[in-house]
This record gives sequence, structure tokens and C-alpha cells, in this order.
Amino acid sequence: MTAAVATIDLAAYRRNLTRVGSAVAPATVMAVVKADAYGHGLLPIARSAIAAGVNWLGALDVRTALALRSAGIDDETAIFAWLLVPDEHFREAIEARIDLGISTLEQLESIADAAASVPARVHLKIDTGLHRNGASAADWPDLVRRAVSLESAGLVDLVGVWTHIAEASDAEDSEAIRRFHDAIGAAQALGAAFEVRHLAASAASLARPDARFDLVRIGAFAYGIAPGGGVGPAELGLEPVMTLRSVVLSVTGSTAEVGIGFRDGISTAAAGAVSVAIAGDRCAVVEVRGDRLSIAVEPGRVHAGDTVVLFGGGGEGEATLQEWADALDTIGEEIVTRLTDRVRREYV
Ligand SMILES: Cc1ncc(COP(=O)(O)O)c(C=O)c1O
Repeated sequence: MTAAVATIDLAAYRRNLTRVGSAVAPATVMAVVKADAYGHGLLPIARSAIAAGVNWLGALDVRTALALRSAGIDDETAIFAWLLVPDEHFREAIEARIDLGISTLEQLESIADAAASVPARVHLKIDTGLHRNGASAADWPDLVRRAVSLESAGLVDLVGVWTHIAEASDAEDSEAIRRFHDAIGAAQALGAAFEVRHLAASAASLARPDARFDLVRIGAFAYGIAPGGGVGPAELGLEPVMTLRSVVLSVTGSTAEVGIGFRDGISTAAAGAVSVAIAGDRCAVVEVRGDRLSIAVEPGRVHAGDTVVLFGGGGEGEATLQEWADALDTIGEEIVTRLTDRVRREYV
């Protein structure tokens, strides 16, 4: 652990979820908690989502999904895992009532072979143009037929049909939505009945009613992370959730050393690009080293032990995560998910 602390405002996270939930209703929200809840801490965030009334969690992988079950999150909460590895532990996942995103016949056969004591909860994925797994339109009928037959045999519960879209252009998204409708129609014609249809992540969920279907998968917006390009969280009615702080270790003339560096996950590109706040004053980041930042200070105004705010809601004069993302030419998600375990997470 270094001196750095990321303070996570769980009430702000819940408010963001509630705001997105009202905007997308009657569609339901799945809270995406992959990548250690985008660096915010898996279990506190998952429990907060459940406290906010969410009963779907998006885990990404089976290992994360099982960690949530092991921590006591029972099957009143559905947990969706969609990044399956070869030789996946299907049996353990099925027994733990993990919802599995399935793209191939091989995966369905592995599920049939896993022979668990309960049917596997399955969501069939169609590729609608992103080419990040999902069955092709050509393979779709065979995948659906096999799933329907495994359901009749009691080995599978066909819970969902889903896809993922780029959210980069309206025209491409419209085409993906059209392909999704076609795939659902084709599956229904083959005897499939799904409880939930889901396609959208944060951006499309808010922007496009036609993308919402029954369930939307919300990661970034719940953490107050906006797409950027002039659209920050405030424009979307969302609040920042994480504030990152550290302390001044020493001051020499007009340079102060701050206890956080690239080993904590701060990009070296921050040097010359962003500033931090000390008692409301902005100080430019001059250099990022392994365990320290060098910042430019006014001699006499800054002392060892002073609190340094790197980014947050802006209430202490600091830059927001969005400003960091814009300055580093990236998205907020990359900055928060880079933070390592050396940065203590504190929950308020
Ligand atoms: C399949 C899927 N759905 C939803 C999400 C959440 O996306 P966002 O953070 O934009 O809400 C992700 C995140 O990468 C994803 O991979």
C-alpha cells in the first residue's frame, strides 16, 4: 500500500444506478461489475447495486461470478458471465446458478456434458456486427435448435438472447438492432422462448429507447464515467463516484513529491498533461515516477503531509476524471481500472 486512497461514494453509485433505471424503465438494469467493478471494488459495489434494487450483475467471467456467489450473493440475484475460456468450469458455474452467455455449439455441448444437478441458465449470443464472439447468422439456427433440444431434455434453461454493439455510430447501431430483431424472430420460429432480450450498454441505454429491450447492461454510467468528447457525467445527470487522493511527501523549492506513481497505475502520460489540487490550488504534474509524482508548487504554500486530490467531483478544486481522460486522450474507464491494489479503496 502507498499513501494513495481512492474514496468510493457508494451513495453516488446507487443514485447513478437509480437515475439510469428510471430513464430506461420498463427495461431492467444489469449492473456490470467486471474488472473489479471498474477498479471500484467488486463486493462493495455489487452489494450496493443490490441495495439499490438491482437483481442482475454482469461479471464478465465465471471466476468473478463464482467469487460473488462465494461472498454470499444468493441466486435471488442473477449473475451473468459471458467471457468463457476454453475448458471453462461449466459444472461449477451451473451449480452456482451463473447465467452463461453462449456463442457456440461447442459451448452448448460442454454444458450438456457437465451434467449438473440443475439446468444451466443460458443466454444465446448473436453477432450483430461487432465480431466480438456471438454466433454468425449462418450458425444461429443450429445453435438455437440445439439449445431448444437441451431445454426439452432438462439440461438447459433458455433464459436470454443477447448481443453487444459498438455504440460508435447511430447508423451501425440501428443495423445491429435490426439484426438482433431478425435473430430473435428466427429463434422464436425454431421454438425458442426467452425471458430477457438484451443488447445495450451505458451509452445506447440512455440514448436509444429502441436499444433497451428487456434488460440493459450498465457499467460506465453507474460509476459516473461518461463517454467524453464534450459529454461529461454532469451532462448526463450522473455523479462521479471515485475521488483519488494522496499526500505530499516532501517539498524542495518549487517542486513537491506526492506519494503515488506509475506502480499505482498512474499513466506516465499524466506528466505535462494534468494538474492536482492542494487546498484548492491547482499544481501541474511535472513527472510521474514509480512511486511518486513531482508537481510544481508555489514555494511556501505547500508542506509535507498536505492532502493532494488527483481527481474527483471537483468540490475541492480538483480536476474531474473526465478532465483527466480528455487530457490523456483516453476514456475515464481506462484511468480507474488501471489503479492497482496498492491504492487503498475507502468506502463512504
Ligand atoms: C458485453 C458488455 N455489456 C456491457 C458492458 C458495459 O459497458 P459500459 O461500461 O459502456 O456500460 C460491457 C463492458 O465492457 C460489456 O462487455
